Amino acid sequence: MTQQSKTAFKDWADYYRQASASGEALAYPSETLVRLFKGKYITGMPRDFHGLSVLDVGCGGANNALMMARLGLRVFGTEVDESLCREARDILASQGFEADFRVGTNTRLPFDDDQFDFLVSWNVLHYENTEPDIVAGLQEYARVLKPGGRLLLSTTGPDHAILKNARTLGGHRYQIGREDDFRKGEIYFYFDSPAYIHFYFDPVFHQVQVGRTHDRLFNDTLDWFIVTAVK
Ligand SMILES: C[S@@+](CC[C@H](N)C(=O)[O-])C[C@H]1O[C@@H](n2cnc3c(N)ncnc32)[C@H](O)[C@@H]1O
Repeated sequence: MTQQSKTAFKDWADYYRQASASGEALAYPSETLVRLFKGKYITGMPRDFHGLSVLDVGCGGANNALMMARLGLRVFGTEVDESLCREARDILASQGFEADFRVGTNTRLPFDDDQFDFLVSWNVLHYENTEPDIVAGLQEYARVLKPGGRLLLSTTGPDHAILKNARTLGGHRYQIGREDDFRKGEIYFYFDSPAYIHFYFDPVFHQVQVGRTHDRLFNDTLDWFIVTAVK
């Protein structure tokens, strides 16, 4: 594990602890993810999820995990720290759901090969910060998906507010420069265009489709590439 990872993992645990204590934790799921599960945006998406399994990589405050449990999915998840896994387990248990959260990262998922019907990676892959680790993360996602299993992924686009004042380092790498963000100084890998998403995803997955959401919310712009693909 790199020094950046160690510090970053502790920062994430502190961030969620504070957000939970202050009531600022996201209490709602991603609207885009709800739409992908409930709407007809993806050809071949099942209508009934009961009995199907999902791995939520980097589940954060379990906001998406809870929504997926409510859809009838059997929920598994990872976080970078045991306290975050415990918190996620407690959130689901408080609503009557049993879920399996384990410590893991994009490149090390503590689950068997060919296990999941869905893998959700919602704003998590780009926390790998080198090209080899991005490729390793994608291969690890594919390893744990069943053949025919589906990836649903969101990752930062080039207009996103997190990139305000970021230093461009080349090779899709950016050093965060926002004074008001706990990730300042860290280096992340962002896909600069849909063509680069295909460049990295197509060798690992089938039927790669790239969408995008772009919201201008007054003080900030939220720009995300949305990707779905099949193992
Ligand atoms: C922006 S938050 C997204 C949380 C959640 N997926 C959501 O959509 O609300 C990023 C999450 O990724 C986790 N994370 C950070 N580095 C990671 C890594 N290398 N592998 C997997 N997860 C990581 C963090 O702990 C954090 O919970």
